[in-house]
Amino acid sequence: MARISIRSIRYRRPLNPTWDTELEQQIHCHIEGIEAPLDFTGLFQRQAPLHVEIGFGKGRFLLAAAERFPETNWLGIEYAPPCVALAAERAARKGLRNVRIARGVAEDIITARFPADTVAAYHIYFPDPWPKKRHHKRRLIKPPFAVQLARTLEPGGFVNTATDNSEYFEEIIAACTDAGLARRDVPDTYADDAFRTNFEIRFLTQGQPVYRAAFRKPGP
Ligand SMILES: C[S@@+](CC[C@H](N)C(=O)[O-])C[C@H]1O[C@@H](n2cnc3c(N)ncnc32)[C@H](O)[C@@H]1O
Repeated sequence: MARISIRSIRYRRPLNPTWDTELEQQIHCHIEGIEAPLDFTGLFQRQAPLHVEIGFGKGRFLLAAAERFPETNWLGIEYAPPCVALAAERAARKGLRNVRIARGVAEDIITARFPADTVAAYHIYFPDPWPKKRHHKRRLIKPPFAVQLARTLEPGGFVNTATDNSEYFEEIIAACTDAGLARRDVPDTYADDAFRTNFEIRFLTQGQPVYRAAFRKPGP
């Protein structure tokens, strides 16, 4: 199956940028490789519910959601540098002050830097399925990572996820429920076409099945 092609992302900074480059600097946050717990209020310069998208790719969902929900703080974590650069530039062009973008390995950042009970929601759409059996260990949503999601979610917080791989889907459900997250209905908050990710658009256009699930951390 064709996965995201980083080379397909053309990122060329024009000589005379017309967007707020100072804002773009602020959007980029450098949080990998440090051990201290993150202060999200300081990072966003305000207190607001925190939503985190992991592996945002070209950032279609992240930017649409940040625009639609300005009262929420949106943090994107992605390890492909061209995706990071593209999303930060687009966020700055849109003047989005409620977005921060971090480059790095999500498991490392979340494990080392996220305090317990701080994230209102995680969004993880079409994580690489690594279909070959010998590559399954590279999958993102595995039991130790699901434990980190559960640890860092606020009570009542949720994980929203989708994949095109039915077997990975079952693994995600098992990992999340074993970590103490309860399966819940997929919220219709993001049902609008504006929130479709690039991979989702590709799969839907090709008529391929898409499997969605949402989980909730027990609490108020
Ligand atoms: C299959 S793509 C999906 C992109 C986007 N979510 C979509 O649906 O269009 C998976 C993305 O996750 C990123 N990624 C994979 N593992 C990651 C990790 N451990 N930490 C951060 N980003 C990761 C990849 O660089 C890639 O952009």
